[in-house]
Amino acid sequence: MRSFLVAGNWKMHGDSAGIKQLLSELLKALPAEPGIDIAVFPPAVYLAQVAAEMAATPVAVGAQNVCAQAGPGAYTGEISAAMLTDVGCQYVLVGHSERRSLYGESSQLVAEKAKAALTAGLIPVVCVGESEAQRDEGQTLEVISSQLVAVFAALTAAELKKIVVAYEPVWAIGTGKTASPEQAQEVHGFIRALFAKQDEALANELRILYGGSVKANNAATLFAQADIDGGLVGGASLDAQEFSAICRAAE
Ligand code: PGA
Repeated sequence: MRSFLVAGNWKMHGDSAGIKQLLSELLKALPAEPGIDIAVFPPAVYLAQVAAEMAATPVAVGAQNVCAQAGPGAYTGEISAAMLTDVGCQYVLVGHSERRSLYGESSQLVAEKAKAALTAGLIPVVCVGESEAQRDEGQTLEVISSQLVAVFAALTAAELKKIVVAYEPVWAIGTGKTASPEQAQEVHGFIRALFAKQDEALANELRILYGGSVKANNAATLFAQADIDGGLVGGASLDAQEFSAICRAAE
């Protein structure tokens, strides 16, 4: 049985005081014992603060990025997976479309980051998704498949068992244009089938999150799809009421 995961990607938002307030509102709004996994992904400089404040709560903490090199070493500006574990992270996003498009991260690099995360005991949330042009050209499944092939090549079967995949159509991120439940389900089913070619049992256990303009008012219909196991939430995760409503929709 797959347990749902709702993940809040805060991107480059917040400051110490604002984050403190958001967390306190969130803890009030969330059920004391949620029947799902919940995680927030603050900017790196706030990870230790958030991990300390969430230590005795049901909310886990993840980073938005990680260095592909295990280190320690001469990698100016980078943060290793071991450092993320050290400050209390359990998860890390790899391959978010903003990292792929704005910072030129290739599928190969994303796969290496997933490997580095797993080696340090973190759960990588591997993000995949097609652009609007690629969807219009009918290339959606091909794009997703090529993004995942790099992951299959880099990780062992035992490692693949530990990852989470997030399907985030690029055209739906931050645009208010959510994929329809049918569009999302088609790709989620395809992703599960790709994993089934590696290992059937692994595919059944794999958690596949949907991301892209998930809101309180569309979460329940998305989460009702057979192969959607939760959400990766951007904008709506900065609002405690909205984010907790999305968590409740997943319960
Ligand atoms: P959004 O972002 O919910 O604001 O569309 C999702 C994401 O980028 O993870």
